[in-house]
Amino acid sequence: MKIENVAGPSTALNAPEWVRHTALKQWVTQVAALTRPERIVWCDGSTAEYDRLCQELVSAGTFRPLNPTLRPNSFLALSDPSDVARVEDRTFICSVHRHDAGPTNNWMAPAEMKVKLGKLFDGCMRGRTLYVVPFSMGPVGSPLSHIGVELTDSAYVAVSMKIMTRMGRAAVEALGEDGNFVPCLHSVGMPLAPGQADVPWPCNKDDKYIVHFPEENAIWSFGSGYGGNALLGKKCFALRIASTMGREQGWLAEHMLILGVQSPGGRKHYVAAAFPSACGKTNFAMLIPPPVFAGWKVTTVGDDIAWIKPGADGRLYAINPEYGFFGVAPGTSDQSNPNAMATMKANSIFTNVALTPEGDVWWEGMTDTPPAKLTDWQGQEWTPDCGRKAAHPNARFTAPASQCPSLDPEWENTQGVPISAFIFGGRRTTTMPLVVESFNWTDGVYLAATMGSETTAAAAHKVGEVRRDPFAMLPFCGYHIGDYFDHWLETGLRLPGPPRIFCVNWFRKDENGKFLWPGYGDNMRVLQWIIERCEGTTGAVESPLGWMPTEGQIEWGGLDQSVRNSFRQAMRLDREDWVRELLLHEELFIKLYDRLPKEFVLRRELLLAALWRSPEQWSLPAG
Ligand code: OXD
Ligand code: MN
Repeated sequence: MKIENVAGPSTALNAPEWVRHTALKQWVTQVAALTRPERIVWCDGSTAEYDRLCQELVSAGTFRPLNPTLRPNSFLALSDPSDVARVEDRTFICSVHRHDAGPTNNWMAPAEMKVKLGKLFDGCMRGRTLYVVPFSMGPVGSPLSHIGVELTDSAYVAVSMKIMTRMGRAAVEALGEDGNFVPCLHSVGMPLAPGQADVPWPCNKDDKYIVHFPEENAIWSFGSGYGGNALLGKKCFALRIASTMGREQGWLAEHMLILGVQSPGGRKHYVAAAFPSACGKTNFAMLIPPPVFAGWKVTTVGDDIAWIKPGADGRLYAINPEYGFFGVAPGTSDQSNPNAMATMKANSIFTNVALTPEGDVWWEGMTDTPPAKLTDWQGQEWTPDCGRKAAHPNARFTAPASQCPSLDPEWENTQGVPISAFIFGGRRTTTMPLVVESFNWTDGVYLAATMGSETTAAAAHKVGEVRRDPFAMLPFCGYHIGDYFDHWLETGLRLPGPPRIFCVNWFRKDENGKFLWPGYGDNMRVLQWIIERCEGTTGAVESPLGWMPTEGQIEWGGLDQSVRNSFRQAMRLDREDWVRELLLHEELFIKLYDRLPKEFVLRRELLLAALWRSPEQWSLPAG
């Protein structure tokens, strides 16, 4: 990334002797000349450095140390109330041509954006420290990994990057003198005048820009210190920029968890599953099977992002490029996800959760009975009857993956793990069945591309509206989504035996608003059918949408009969719902018309015809 026309005295570079990369040093020098930090600190990724930065954050009032007995080496941060989620309307893909960003991304011409950003970044780090944060997405040295360097004026970002990525000296050393890296520039956008006191959570309340330049593989983020806006290895690099790299280089960067399933016979499969933000990916990735599944084991490779590449044997191999979990806290409990609770027992950072009088954390759903008194996420006194939420709905835990009890032994395999199936799931109160297997790869890509989901608190927008979220990548695809569909079709159709594709919906409700499916650990019942389909050991019936399990093909042991009674309702396809749904597919297709794969038009017609030929409510045959 070039920064031109910057002049003036620069802060001492302070590069340690282990930095031998000339272009990296030049870039840091240029950024410092533009942003004018008071000092430059190169992060080596050591524990001593992490501890020192955490102490500095405590002194600055950003971090409150939690009770070392209850939550060792852990901290709570409360953000500015205006900076609590990803800002999709401030996120831009600045490709040279507008149509390469496509109709689902905000776009601005790179030159115009650079003028705008140049002004915002000019002097924006005054009074602050510029941290140089080198990191590897994926195990250092893996052929599937890529390196980035984030320059940030936020120590909170630097310590979070230590948990979320392989951060520090090893990443710079892997770069050598001239290796490729993705430059990620970040500022909270709140310079300090001499003598001006800082605030615990600096950010810019007026201007936020999360900007990607796909032709340069560069990222500029201004004004926010929160999550995906600021930890640039995650959504910005590992999804938006990586998706464009993957398209050019023949691989896939996906918003997917990766889990392993071992059956009692010892056979192991890995599946990758895409769900929109805050739809339970972390819970699914760490699923604990119900007791009836004795001998079955589910293990975790990743909970949010998968990088997937065809291997020499014609299978797809996946790595989790991350090193930690940045999960939604509310709703997480010893019942819903004991593995996540164990992962964040220590060495974790909590953001926008509530604080107990004993110095531990709490959030809605953690316990059935809330504590009598708390400090809420805005630092105010909280009691159960006060009418406010104690934790922000998008409050997060940041915890090292290595602490996860269900971590898969192969999670750091540099070659990745072989994928047997893809699962796609939205949050849909109606319309979508509990599970369906696509007829073939093209049909599966169609189902994933037309996925809809009700929006959640992970991004700043109205919660609960159904929007099309193709592949759960709507906010994360770095290029034209029509080209992305094409890339998926091409990738699978070149493989001798591509993974099977399934769609699931854990969130369907009955007419009284009650969930038809218990979810959480019981999702194992659906996962078992999926794995057995991959092995060819179970059957299915044909529906207008794809292959579906009959009641007899699902394990019901240990479940209440009422759930079993709801199964047919959870699987039903209503013609009226589906006519509406297919009109929404059409709406999406018209937006993408010039780059829509032809197969999709034909597939939609076939689906419509199949629905019209079946009864008004297509139901599974009894038995
Ligand atoms: C996330 C998200 O933080 O999808 O993972 O918003
Ligand atoms: Mn996510």
